[in-house]
Amino acid sequence: MSVNTGTNNRLIATKAVLWFLLGAAAVVVAVRYVRGLGLTTALTDTTPWGMWIGFDVLSGVGLAAGGFVLAATVYIFGRDKYHGVVRPAVLTAFLGYLGVIIGLLVDLGRPWNIWRPLFHQNLHSPLFEVAMCVMLYTTVLALEFAPVGLERFKWAQPIVRLLRKLVLPLVILGICLSCLHQSSIGTMFLLTGSRMHPLWYSPLQSPLFLISAIALGLAMVSLEGVITSWLYRRKAEWSVFGGLTRAAAVVLSLYLLMRLGDLGVRGMLGHTIDGSWYAVLFWLEIAMSAVIPILLFTLPGTRNQNWAVGWGALLVVSGFVLHRADVGGISHIAVTGEAYVPALTELATSLGIVAGLALVFLFFVEKLQVWEEPPEAPDLYAAPAFDPVGRQFIRGPWFGGGQRAVLALIVGAVIGLMIVEAQVASRSRYQAAPVDAPKTVQLTRLANTDGPGHVFEVASFVSTGMNEALLPALLIDSGGAGRHVVFEHAAHVERLAERGSCLLCHHRNVPLDQATSCTHCHRDMFEATDTFSHAGHEAALGERESCVQCHVEPDLAKSRPSTKACDACHHAPPADATLVSATLELGAGVAAGYMDAMHGLCLTCHIEEAAQEANAHLGQCATCHRSGFENETDLITRTRALLLAENDLNSGAPVVEGMSP
Ligand code: HEC
Ligand code: HEC
Ligand code: HEC
Ligand code: HEC
Ligand code: HEC
Ligand code: HEC
Repeated sequence: MSVNTGTNNRLIATKAVLWFLLGAAAVVVAVRYVRGLGLTTALTDTTPWGMWIGFDVLSGVGLAAGGFVLAATVYIFGRDKYHGVVRPAVLTAFLGYLGVIIGLLVDLGRPWNIWRPLFHQNLHSPLFEVAMCVMLYTTVLALEFAPVGLERFKWAQPIVRLLRKLVLPLVILGICLSCLHQSSIGTMFLLTGSRMHPLWYSPLQSPLFLISAIALGLAMVSLEGVITSWLYRRKAEWSVFGGLTRAAAVVLSLYLLMRLGDLGVRGMLGHTIDGSWYAVLFWLEIAMSAVIPILLFTLPGTRNQNWAVGWGALLVVSGFVLHRADVGGISHIAVTGEAYVPALTELATSLGIVAGLALVFLFFVEKLQVWEEPPEAPDLYAAPAFDPVGRQFIRGPWFGGGQRAVLALIVGAVIGLMIVEAQVASRSRYQAAPVDAPKTVQLTRLANTDGPGHVFEVASFVSTGMNEALLPALLIDSGGAGRHVVFEHAAHVERLAERGSCLLCHHRNVPLDQATSCTHCHRDMFEATDTFSHAGHEAALGERESCVQCHVEPDLAKSRPSTKACDACHHAPPADATLVSATLELGAGVAAGYMDAMHGLCLTCHIEEAAQEANAHLGQCATCHRSGFENETDLITRTRALLLAENDLNSGAPVVEGMSP
């Protein structure tokens, strides 16, 4: 019924998609803050930086480079031809940096600490430089762009006039900060050098980042111009974009020379043809970001073609987005060995941030004088139509821009929820498996008629906890899984009697205790757990007086290696007085999972013993893991019945340790 004559369907569809993406991201970001990064990202301790750094931050900064490049072109070098694209470029830069900040706030584990670099400066850290540049440059960009927003208000005229006077200093400041920042982002990856594939690591990282940012900025301004012209059905300034991309070609050639030259000088060119997928990725990136665009922008056959300018700019932009992703993450896989694939939620967040900023951009374009000739106000509304049933005019727009936006946002939010749900379901996160304390039991020990070893029959479950006089055996619990292991504690202690103390197995005790249960520290069946409690130690060692007892090196950052060793107070037994040796490198005070602790103690000795023929069975799993101990009550009843039956048959009295049946 409604005829959308005069409406720009391109714009309507694009905006609907953007609102949709924003809705999905909004839900995901909310979930990220409620349920944490673990659920909403594929990040791990090995891969702590993912898509939000590789794309949102690194590419966001790069894509914003158009702001300073065009400001320099127009205000410093006086190329007035490009005056028309300065405002969109500065706006893009401002929004790009806003995107970086939003991306960071989502990505930081503790975002409420983001202000800290301002007051707790670490002057030696590239990250400090990055943080300061982001803050200062975003401010400068806001001031550069402010006149555009303020010029229509009468009261703001003095401010506008002042800012206009300050244009040149602001532009110069912006260029300095931008150069510092674009390159310091590269500097940061000098630190992570040992994590990167040699094709992406380079001591020239900072100049490479700066130069590529200039080309990227030029291409981005062109691409954005082409897209918005298409969107608003206006004629694109092809001559301007042609000029920008030809300049980009020069910068790209320099970049290409430096990149390949650097690899050559460092003897790394071999990696580009070693047939690995890194080599393929490298060439793909180089072709997209530099080689093909240079050809498109310079060959006589294509350089005056509009399509070449548009597609070339798109290639540069996507090529350098890939480069940033490679440096920021993908190339780290070569060293960490851990493949990282962004979670759907990470993708949704990144897309949503871009969509939100694009909407702001379009809003400014429509409402402010971003372009020298603003677009005609888009007609988002259908003309009032006559309703044949109700016989009256339906009032005004029945489904205008606002309603469409809200609908798209809601659909997006629903899809966002579904993404989160799907992710929760698909992520098989580790389920904690806390272990129970061992139980003392009385058991019979029968000769095994079918093979080596003995058959154990549990006669009674005595109390939990244990006293030495009454220690026939321990039933070691698997933490609720129902599979117990019988451990004849007394018999094992006796066998080791000549070697001395309980410390042979009880290698660590909590203070003032002996033979602390292994479950006290080895708390989870499979996961290693940290036994150190900072608060507990402060309390035990005298609160504020305690600090210096451990933090003996006041100049060093407070970490485990820099503090007093645990053993200085806790006295671990010497290596020859214990059967427990650490094979897993877990760091001071981190105790292995219970299974590893038990196997580390029991299996090591059993396998040694199994070398003797009579004890060959000791190394087999079934020596310790037996079937039939699934259920405690079940077990007692069954064992009682068995014992009674055996007595009745008088087939040799069973050896019942400590208790008669
Ligand atoms: C220092 C060496 C050593 C350690 C450590 C050790 N064992 Fe043993 N274990 C033995 C020896 C030797 C025997 C054989 C004794 C015999 O049959 O006379 C044995 C016997 C056993 C048996 C009886 C097998 C049968 O069928 O007769 C079980 C069950 C067992 N150990 C479980 C464990 C568990 C569980 C642990 C760890 C908590 C453990 N052992 C730690 C040396 C060790
Ligand atoms: C010397 C005794 C011993 C031997 C031999 C032994 N284990 Fe264990 N294992 C233990 C103890 C003790 C635990 C911890 C108690 C428990 O079962 O929960 C354990 C726990 C486990 C667990 C985790 C708990 C569970 O029940 O799921 C698995 C899995 C396991 N062992 C597999 C094996 C396999 C496979 C072998 C043979 C290669 C083997 N074990 C040999 C003593 C042993
Ligand atoms: C062969 C190794 C070994 C030796 C030697 C050993 N223990 Fe144990 N002990 C264990 C294991 C294994 C457990 C049960 C696992 C757990 O605590 O989670 C245990 C448990 C205990 C428990 C029960 C802890 C609780 O609260 O649940 C006590 C008490 C104990 N041992 C005392 C001693 C004493 C005292 C000595 C020295 C005379 C000694 N043990 C020597 C291996 C050993
Ligand atoms: C028993 C020794 C001990 C005592 C006492 C102690 N610390 Fe620590 N502290 C550590 C260890 C070990 C770490 C490393 C943290 C970790 O690995 O969990 C640490 C870490 C820290 C950190 C860095 C925490 C972080 O999250 O990065 C600070 C700050 C700190 N301690 C301050 C103090 C202060 C203040 C006191 C006195 C009130 C104190 N510590 C008392 C051992 C101790
Ligand atoms: C007070 C805490 C504590 C208690 C109690 C404790 N452990 Fe440990 N255990 C540790 C810590 C911490 C480590 C890590 C290595 C180290 O610091 O010595 C460890 C390491 C081990 C390892 C070496 C694992 C590996 O391969 O790296 C074994 C095996 C082990 N414990 C067995 C036991 C057994 C068996 C018991 C009980 C009889 C026990 N532990 C009781 C804290 C404890
Ligand atoms: C300056 C001496 C000192 C140092 C260093 C120290 N501790 Fe302790 N630790 C203590 C004292 C004292 C206690 C007693 C606390 C209590 O009574 O509860 C204790 C208690 C503990 C306990 C038992 C708490 C519990 O679970 O009941 C563990 C486990 C422990 N420390 C682990 C560590 C580890 C791991 C380190 C090294 C990272 C360490 N400690 C370093 C003095 C120290």
